[in-house]
Amino acid sequence: MAVLNVNIDHVATVRQARLAEEPDPVWAAAECELAGANGITVHLRVDRRHIRDRDVELLKKTVACKLNLEMSMEDEIIEIAERLVPEQVTLVPEKRQELTTEGGLDCADGAKRLSKVVERMHARGIIVSAFITPDTNQIKAAAAAGCDAIELHTGGYANAVGAQAIDKELRKLIAGVDVAMENELVVHAGHGLNYRNIGPVAAIKELHELNIGHSIVSRSIFVGMREATAQMISLIDKYSPSDRRI
Ligand code: PXP
Repeated sequence: MAVLNVNIDHVATVRQARLAEEPDPVWAAAECELAGANGITVHLRVDRRHIRDRDVELLKKTVACKLNLEMSMEDEIIEIAERLVPEQVTLVPEKRQELTTEGGLDCADGAKRLSKVVERMHARGIIVSAFITPDTNQIKAAAAAGCDAIELHTGGYANAVGAQAIDKELRKLIAGVDVAMENELVVHAGHGLNYRNIGPVAAIKELHELNIGHSIVSRSIFVGMREATAQMISLIDKYSPSDRRI
């Protein structure tokens, strides 16, 4: 049965649109927690386009549920994680021009660097998850590097059009979950999940955490952050746990 981590990056996106002080992602995190979120996820990008250092510092002090820091393997950001010690980091690839994280981390090609980062995080007691596509080689490489968990990229599923294409992407995710379980990895999932497409993913009972951001922040404009989070939690609960895999 999966639990929800709310990614609050886009609360900060609205703030940064005016380089202002509001809306404050720290307030948003409290609202998510009050709605029953399992965790708060923020991506401290090297370009600081949304979440800023000040946000992560305050969130570390105020978030009572899990704080999941999404980050690249840049030295500067790794040092921040080592200093702040979030409960979990999710390692992602990062490109300057991208609108959002594109593709998964290449754990096979960057195996040496990944192992080193995992070692540094583990030295601080931080859980390490790697954001990857549901590809067997990538999953095995993440396990070999010592990752505790993987976050399966659900973008392919979310962007698929038509029942057949959606089903094909869902099957890739389920196959990825199976390989991850065989390799003793905890499995998370996220990217592009929303109130309409969450059902079949939430029904994959081996999934532990779902990281969802844009759809929740979008809905919060109309119903508030607490209600938007509560609505997503109740949908996840409605579809899981279940013996049904598709
Ligand atoms: N997981 C990862 C690794 C991400 O990079 C993102 C986007 O920041 C998400 C989950 C959340 O995606 P979305 O905002 O589409 O829900």
